[in-house]
Amino acid sequence: MFAALRDATARGSKVPTDLVAAINDRKRELNAVILAHYYQNSDLQDIADYIGDSLGLAQAAAQTTADVIVFVGVHFMAETAKILNPTKQVLLPDLNAGCSLADSCPPEEFLKFKQAHPDHKVVSYINCSAAIKAMSDVICTSANAVKIVNSFPPDQPLIFAPDRNLGRYVAQQTGRDLLLWQGTCIVHEIFSEQKLVELRVKYPQAAVIAHPECEPTVLRHADFIGSTTALIKYVARSDAPAFIVVTEPGVIHQMQKIAPGKTFIPAPPNNNCACNECPYMRLNTLEKLYYTMRDRSPEITLDESLRLAALKPIQRMLELSANS
Ligand code: 13P
Ligand code: SF4
Repeated sequence: MFAALRDATARGSKVPTDLVAAINDRKRELNAVILAHYYQNSDLQDIADYIGDSLGLAQAAAQTTADVIVFVGVHFMAETAKILNPTKQVLLPDLNAGCSLADSCPPEEFLKFKQAHPDHKVVSYINCSAAIKAMSDVICTSANAVKIVNSFPPDQPLIFAPDRNLGRYVAQQTGRDLLLWQGTCIVHEIFSEQKLVELRVKYPQAAVIAHPECEPTVLRHADFIGSTTALIKYVARSDAPAFIVVTEPGVIHQMQKIAPGKTFIPAPPNNNCACNECPYMRLNTLEKLYYTMRDRSPEITLDESLRLAALKPIQRMLELSANS
């Protein structure tokens, strides 16, 4: 509430009484499409034209015919949309909506790491900057990482960056020895194993569903591991009456829609907070979305040679994921 008032004051304007109507009007005027990630606040998910995981959002960005892409997610997602759409305007409601994983891989250090292993190809998780993408052979997301890694001949040495937890999980699934960059996500690394075990005891009928960015100590308790879209699909087909959800709790909004009679319990972090929201994703608000569309700012811009270098590995991923 106070954050929303601050946003409005900062933009020096009165908040329209019907924000949803104002956003939809502006969307028509701009011929814009609103793409949102599942970790966004529910009101933002509800106003989006497309809600998805990182892979689905990249595919939607690659296919849209809109003139303006409004990305309600974090910076690397909007940047990916811009890399795919150099002639379209790509807007992000808050440029500070970054990602700890992307920040954990500084390009200068990664370049040295890559140069120290010249025989390795580089598979990078989409949660990274355009500069890291430009140094990669192929991009992956949590939805297709196993498939992308398996697309290389078994004897091809691979660097996997920047998430060591997803990397470890993929190494386990593929039986490959991946050279891991040691990045982590500040949200997924702090789920508490002890509190998760306590929840399992309290809700014995509940299935534990987890994102592969979690630590191995947490993943070993999971009944199902997958991307946000995969977790939602699992909920839709599972007979379990309840789910302990070990990822950012924004995803529960779609789970409740798809399985309204079921119980969803967000797994707690190992601090005093009850839930574990991504501080970057949650920077976006309905008010900021409105002002961004009204002002056509902030906008994502990119150096053209960097864009072209980052485009190649993203296109490779999209080709390899054509049927996913
Ligand atoms: P997804 O690939 O499931 O969208 O996850 C993205 C992300 O940022 C997880 O923290
Ligand atoms: Fe990045 Fe983690 Fe937030 Fe996903 S949840 S955007 S990986 S900080």
